[in-house]
Amino acid sequence: MRILLASNNSKKRHELERILAGRGVEIVTPQALGIDLEPPETGATFEENCLIKARAFARLFAGPVLADDSGLEVDALGGAPGVRSARYAGPAASDAENRARLLAELAGVPDERRAARFVCCLALVKGGEVLARARGACAGRIIAAERGADGFGYDPIFLHEPSGRTFAELDPAEKDRVSHRGAALRELARRLDRIRKQAT
Ligand code: IMP
Repeated sequence: MRILLASNNSKKRHELERILAGRGVEIVTPQALGIDLEPPETGATFEENCLIKARAFARLFAGPVLADDSGLEVDALGGAPGVRSARYAGPAASDAENRARLLAELAGVPDERRAARFVCCLALVKGGEVLARARGACAGRIIAAERGADGFGYDPIFLHEPSGRTFAELDPAEKDRVSHRGAALRELARRLDRIRKQAT
């Protein structure tokens, strides 16, 4: 199966490719097809935004399109940055600027009130049809200073408590085993298997 990854975020795309490796899926990127598209993420939820992205790319590609909308929810901030995770510090903010804003918002908030979770919603769309959707989450806590050099986005300040490490300190295979994105992709694969079995 040849799938177009409907994302311009190369780090996120790289993780999806890594998790899909060995599953008999050939990944195509928008760049490889000369597709330059930035669909406006106007949805109020991760689910809505990943469908917006998948459908927009599916208009330009005949095969299946996989879109990911993901982000970080912090309880003490009422679920922010949420769907605004990529642009928390402004429309063109870098990962470092987004992390700095989050740490500033949480200044003075004690450890026990810094609970957070990463959420990832995926949609696989072909033409006008939604083939499967899935959601994955991973609970953790926002620490006060960055740790680790791997990963991207909010990884250096997201503590995965069972391992005692931030997502930026986990090696990539470990992150994939516990992450919201790994969980969502495994769920998506299970749903697709079920659909295939029902169809045969
Ligand atoms: P999207 O492209 O609108 O889905 O933006 C997702 C944003 O959420 C990214 O730019 C990151 O800031 C954040 N994010 C999502 N997944 C992760 C992750 O695995 N690690 C760190 N940050 C993430």
